Amino acid sequence: MITTILLVLVIVYLFRNTLSDVSVFNPFAEPEVREEPIVEGKFTPETLQKYNGTDDPKIFIAVKGKVYNVSQGASFYGPGGPYENFAGRDASRGLAKNSFEAELLTPINKPIDTLKDLTDAEIESLDGWEEHFENKYPIVGSLHENGETGETGQ
Ligand code: HEM
Ligand SMILES: *[C@@H]1O[C@H](CO)[C@@H](O)[C@H](O)[C@H]1NC(C)=O
Ligand SMILES: *[C@@H]1O[C@H](CO)[C@@H](O)[C@H](O)[C@H]1NC(C)=O
Repeated sequence: MITTILLVLVIVYLFRNTLSDVSVFNPFAEPEVREEPIVEGKFTPETLQKYNGTDDPKIFIAVKGKVYNVSQGASFYGPGGPYENFAGRDASRGLAKNSFEAELLTPINKPIDTLKDLTDAEIESLDGWEEHFENKYPIVGSLHENGETGETGQ
């Protein structure tokens, strides 16, 4: 009898995590609040600019239509960093041409750079950088034409 009780206790103990994972509707439970809303969204050149590390500490950059959260690389992209020009911008052309010069960046009120004129070598360079970003930073959204998306990137 004692052994049975002990056995039951051991089983309950071993499975307590599994049991507590079973969510039972509890009307008195506090609603779950996320501290940081997950931004998985549609950005435009104009809405992306907010994430250049000045007003908002989050830094996002776009590469080939995908928006990466490069906040961890603030020493590269933050104000005063070597690649600060890329922050809050579509960095594709600069990465293709291995240049962080501001004049390579498409003005934020202009259509998204089609990159059609890049040479094979430049495309290769850009693809290499894309791989670097994919391996290092989370994607938080995609880049769309100004006006194409309303409430964006919050
Ligand atoms: C004076 C020449 C340059 C030097 C000495 C330099 C140095 C560096 C160093 C030390 C890193 C860090 C590498 C690592 O984390 O392993 C880096 C990363 C990087 N560099 Fe440069 N760089 C130079 C020019 C450029 C140019 C012209 C571009 C323009 C595209 C560029 C874009 C980048 C980018 C995008 C990263 C990745 C940062 C990240 O991981 O978020 N660099 N560079
Ligand atoms: C972006 O990355 C930073 C630092 O890693 C993190 O604090 C923040 O929650 C991330 N934001 C989004 C929207 O993914
Ligand atoms: C960074 O974004 C803010 C808006 O959030 C803007 O006022 C400022 O001009 C931008 N800085 C650069 C260098 O683009």
